[in-house]
Amino acid sequence: MRQSFIAGNWKMHKTPAEAVALAEELKKGLSDCKHKLLIAPSFTALDAVSKVVKGSNILLGAQNMATVEEGAHTGETSVLMLKAIGVDVVILGHSERRHVYGETDEMINTKVKLALEHGFEVILCVGETLEEREAGNAEKVVKTQTESGLKDVTEAQLEKVTIAYEPVWAIGTGKTATPEDADQIHKVTRDTVKNLYSDAAAEKMIIQYGGSVKPNNAAQLMSMENIDGALVGGASLKADLFLPIAEYDK
Ligand code: PGA
Repeated sequence: MRQSFIAGNWKMHKTPAEAVALAEELKKGLSDCKHKLLIAPSFTALDAVSKVVKGSNILLGAQNMATVEEGAHTGETSVLMLKAIGVDVVILGHSERRHVYGETDEMINTKVKLALEHGFEVILCVGETLEEREAGNAEKVVKTQTESGLKDVTEAQLEKVTIAYEPVWAIGTGKTATPEDADQIHKVTRDTVKNLYSDAAAEKMIIQYGGSVKPNNAAQLMSMENIDGALVGGASLKADLFLPIAEYDK
């Protein structure tokens, strides 16, 4: 039985003080939660939130990181910096990174390997655009992004990888994939892991769904066989929305 993993991606929201206040509220509200939990504040709030969640059942996530350890990379954040402030998990390949900032499968794979080499857990995001879905290519796109993202990742390292399926057309739009459609892509993703590694690796792989997850649709999505948690954007910014999602009952 895979443990469900609920993550909140705060994107470019909240000052350090606002982030600390929300983290405090979540820490209190989720102290008995049976699911694996993560919050990913923006870089400027990571250090402050790190102090709040330290020793709690909530992991600390970064939303991105540079492809290299250090150097002349204005505006980037290094894996070594994330390590120094107690980050546990790095979210990589988010659709906003792919489609707004032009990150390629190759760059994302470089980041995945670098994060794993430094002992981080990784959430690798994959997902098709609306055009790709309408052209009947959703499964192919997700399979390719999964294979490229995991290139040269060993089966031992894979233990630290979670995959998040986030259809781009469902992110921040209020549109959600039906539980059946999402489960179908999750199954394709799991089969891709099986072909790349083994039955056991595929069976263990946590695959989150992301894209307009809200308190009123979380439990239904999570009830599907291949959906093992959620990567939540908008609804992770308020405790009264994130708490019921994180505490859903399967
Ligand atoms: P959303 O974002 O929940 O606001 O759709 C999900 C994500 O981008 O991770």
